[in-house]
Amino acid sequence: MIDFKFLEQIPTLEKGRQGFDLWLIDFEPSEMLSLFSTVLVNEERVAAARYLSAERTGLAIASRATLRLLLSLYLQKHPLEIEILHNEYQKPMLNPSDQLYFNVSHSADQILVGISRHTPIGVDIESMRTDTDWKNIAKHYSSPAEYEMLNSAEDPKFFFYQLWTAKEAFMKGYGTGFHFPLNQFTIEYSDSLCGKVTSLVPLSPDHWQIQNFQLSDSCMGAVAVPGELESIHATRLSTQTIKKIAASWNLV
Ligand SMILES: CC(C)(COP(=O)(O)OP(=O)(O)OC[C@H]1O[C@@H](n2cnc3c(N)ncnc32)[C@H](O)[C@@H]1OP(=O)(O)O)[C@@H](O)C(=O)NCCC(=O)NCCS
Repeated sequence: MIDFKFLEQIPTLEKGRQGFDLWLIDFEPSEMLSLFSTVLVNEERVAAARYLSAERTGLAIASRATLRLLLSLYLQKHPLEIEILHNEYQKPMLNPSDQLYFNVSHSADQILVGISRHTPIGVDIESMRTDTDWKNIAKHYSSPAEYEMLNSAEDPKFFFYQLWTAKEAFMKGYGTGFHFPLNQFTIEYSDSLCGKVTSLVPLSPDHWQIQNFQLSDSCMGAVAVPGELESIHATRLSTQTIKKIAASWNLV
């Protein structure tokens, strides 16, 4: 069970703290354009502007600006001096010398950032929409074992979202995104919300563990790491708190 604690001030990070951090930020896409475009490097601003809707542009700005501001707390570096690289599958990542891993997911009005000091991490949030053709998605993207579990689940739609976020969190943590076929590995649950990745051929599963969490009645989340998923610190921040971090660097 992951419980997000609401924090109103700039977080202080204890030195040497172990475990994984999850940051959930509630935001207004319309506010983000004006508030945070100063927190992006030029190429990120250009990439965000390419989206056709102002809402999607706001989301791209919010996501990258929030990420830079949170990372500035860990790295004690100016947000604009943080170098964000991409792997061949477009996974954003830090320079190995920073010794810090992160992953981001967003829905229409929330951003989830997972940060880890020792191992890669993957996160995903999905709104459990009523109009999604989840049965069809499940048919194509579940492994045979998962499809069987889904058909015998008490609440198949809920289980679908649990499985989907878990699979996506793993693929994002692993770094390949949807480039690796999602039906070629299985999330095996040991209790209702904790599981591990199995049957992964030809990739090595590295003992990836998964933890699901429900953010609201209509929003499911998952975090995945290679190893034990212990000591998860989960914090919920408002846009105003993110703005305070930007102000501390004289960026707003
Ligand atoms: C990465 C991917 C899983 C994102 O899924 P999504 O549900 O649309 O979006 P989420 O909100 O969960 O995550 C988006 C974030 O994932 C991160 N991301 C992008 N590529 C990633 C990858 N290969 N691995 C891990 N994380 C990735 C980015 O930070 C992105 O946020 P940003 O665009 O604001 O920087 C998916 O888009 C993907 O696999 N893309 C690459 C392959 C592809 O384009 N396939 C299309 C055919 S389905």
